[in-house]
Amino acid sequence: MQKEVKIFAPATVANVACGFDVLGFALNIPGDELRIAFNDSDSLELHNETPYELPLSPEKNVTAVALQSMLDALQSKQGFTITFLSKIMPGSGVGSSAASAAAGVFGANELLGRPFTRRQLVAFAMQGERVASGSAHADNVAPALMGGFTLIRSYTPLDIIPIPSPPVFATVVHPQIEVRTSDSRKILRQEVPIRKAVEQWGNVAGLVAGLFTSNYDLIGRSLHDVIVEPVRALLIPEFYAIKQAAMDAGALGCSISGSGPSIFALSRDEATAQKVAQAMRHGFDHVGIENHIFVSPVNKEGVRIF
Ligand code: HSE
Repeated sequence: MQKEVKIFAPATVANVACGFDVLGFALNIPGDELRIAFNDSDSLELHNETPYELPLSPEKNVTAVALQSMLDALQSKQGFTITFLSKIMPGSGVGSSAASAAAGVFGANELLGRPFTRRQLVAFAMQGERVASGSAHADNVAPALMGGFTLIRSYTPLDIIPIPSPPVFATVVHPQIEVRTSDSRKILRQEVPIRKAVEQWGNVAGLVAGLFTSNYDLIGRSLHDVIVEPVRALLIPEFYAIKQAAMDAGALGCSISGSGPSIFALSRDEATAQKVAQAMRHGFDHVGIENHIFVSPVNKEGVRIF
C-alpha cells in the first residue's frame, strides 16, 4: 500500500466575470504542492516549508479542515502528516485556499484507495473554503479538483456540471496587494435590481453556450459582470485602465479573478494571451505597482500526483 504522495493542485479563476460563485476554471500555473503521508497517530500533523505564514492548528488550517470533513464522512481515525511544499500567494484571487483544500482531500483519497470520486471530494474541499473566507463556495474547489470549466448549477443539493471548452488561454496579472475574500464579499450588495439580474443571467447562459459550441464571439460578448465587478473594482487600483488595455490587445474579455486583486483575461490563442500580458503588465508598471503575470491554457486535468 502506498504510504505517501506528492500533490499538485492548480490555481483557479472563479466567477469568470458573470458567474459569481457558480463558474470557474483551472490554470496550469501557479499551483500548490504538498506531501501527504499516513502517520501512526489519529491526528493531523502539519508542517510548513513555504515562505508564507500558514495556520498550523488543524481546526484553522484549510487543508486540515477539508481533510477532517472527509475523514468524518468515512468515520475514519486515520492520521496524516501533511507538509506544505509551495503555495500560491494567499489573498491573490486565484484560489489559493481552494488549491490547499483540493490537494489535501485528493491526496488522502488516493492513499485511502479512492473511496470518493473527484466530484464527491468537492463537498469536503468546500469546508476548507468556509474556514478561509466564511463562505463554503465551490467555484474554485470544483475546477481545482475536476479541471476545465465547471458550473455549480445548485448548492443545495450540490450539482456540478463540467463544461467543455474550445482552446482558450488565460492571462492573469496579480498586483502585489492582498485582498481578503472575506472582506471583498462583505462589501457586496445583498440585493440586485431585476434589470441587472436579467443582464447577468443572459451573460451566464451566453458564456456557457459559447463554451459548449466553441463560439469565441459569443464567449467574448458574454464576459461581462454588471453586479459584482463594479463594486470590487474599487479595491483594485487601475482596474478599468488595465481592462481596457487587455481588450485593446485583443482579449475576448477581462474581469476580476475571483475576489481579486488578480485580474484575468481570456484570449483565443497563446500569442494573443502573451500580447495581453504585456499590455496588462504595462498598466501596473506605469503606476509603480509590482505585479506577477501568468499565461496558461485552461487546465483540463485538475489536481494530480506529481
Ligand atoms: N466566488 C468567490 C467570490 C470566489 O467571488 O467571492 C472567491 O475566490
